[in-house]
Amino acid sequence: TQCTSEVARMKNLNLIYMGEFEVEPWYFSPYPAELTNSPVLYICEFCLAYFGSKKQIERHRQRYCDLLYPPGNEIYRKDEISFFEIDGRRQKSYCRNLCLLSKCFLDHKTLYYDVDPFLFYILTKNDDHGCHIIGYFSKEKESAENYNLACILTLPQYQRHGYGRLLMQFSYELSKIEGRLGSPEKPLSDLGLLGYRAFWSEAIVDLLVDYHGEISIEELSKMTSFTTQDILHALSSLDGIRYYKGRHAIVLSEAVLEAYKRSKAKKRRSIDPKYLKWAPPI
Ligand code: ACO
Ligand code: ZN
Repeated sequence: TQCTSEVARMKNLNLIYMGEFEVEPWYFSPYPAELTNSPVLYICEFCLAYFGSKKQIERHRQRYCDLLYPPGNEIYRKDEISFFEIDGRRQKSYCRNLCLLSKCFLDHKTLYYDVDPFLFYILTKNDDHGCHIIGYFSKEKESAENYNLACILTLPQYQRHGYGRLLMQFSYELSKIEGRLGSPEKPLSDLGLLGYRAFWSEAIVDLLVDYHGEISIEELSKMTSFTTQDILHALSSLDGIRYYKGRHAIVLSEAVLEAYKRSKAKKRRSIDPKYLKWAPPI
C-alpha cells in the first residue's frame, strides 16, 4: 500500500467537521478537487460520505442515510466499546471513504481505491446516538510477509487515550486465533513506531513482572504473537538485554519498572478476548 507519488503533495484541506468534532487534517488527501476548495469538509460520521456544505450533509442525514454504526459485523463488544469487521470487497464506498479520511493523517502510505484485498476493523465508542468511529486498522486478507496490520489510525480527537493500544492489541488477538505471529506493515510512521514500541514494551513487561524462572524470546513470542524481532526491538528500546555470565539475559531496570507501574496506574481499557466472536475468514 505504498503510494510515494503523493508524498510531496501539499495539504489540501483546512478543516473537517465530523459528528461533534472539528478536526484539522495533517496531510494531503485525494478528495475531489471541487470539494477541497470549500473551507470546510463535512463528513458523515457513520458512512464517511463527504460534502462541501452543512446543508448537504444535513440533507444526507435526514433523507438518505440512517446508518448508526459501521456497515459490517460487530465482532466485539464490551462496555461501550465495539469492533466491526468490514470486507473491502463488499463495502467499497465505505472503505474508500475511510481511506480518504485516514490519508489526512498518514503521509507515507495508504490505499484509496483498491480496497478489495483488505479487511477493516473499526473501533467504536457507543452511546444512545450510535456507534461512533474512534479509529481503525486495515489488514490484508493474505499477507505474504505475515503482516497482521496494514494501516492503523486513531482519529486525532481521540489520540493519547489508549485507543491505539487497543487497536494494536486487537490485531494480535486476531493473530492468536489464527495461530500465527504478526507484525505491522513497514515502514511505520513516527507515531506508529512510538505507539508500537509503547505497546510491545508494556505487554512484555506485563508478562515478565509476574514470571518466575527462565523464559526464551521464542516463548515470549508464542505467548504474545509478536515476532521475535519485534520483541527484541522492544527489549532493546528498554535497554533490557544484557550479556551476563556468558549468556544473554533480560534485565528490567528500576526506571523501566517505575514507568510500567505509572502506565498501569492509568488503568486503560484493554481487550477482553472473551468478548471477541471471530473465526478467520476462509
Ligand atoms: N508523542 C510522543 N509519544 C506518543 C505520541 C506523541 N504524539 N503519540 C503516541 N505516543 C506513544 C506514547 O508512549 C503513548 O502512550 P502514553 O499516551 O501513555 O504516553 C503510546 O504511543 C500509545 O498511545 P495511545 O493513546 O495508545 O495511542 P493513540 O490512540 O494516540 O494512537 C497511533 C497511536 C495510532 C499511532 C496514532 O498516533 C495515529 O493514528 N497516528 C497517525 C496515523 C499513523 O501515523 N499511524 C501509524 C502509521 S504506521 C502503520 O500504519 C503500520
Ligand atoms: Zn451517512
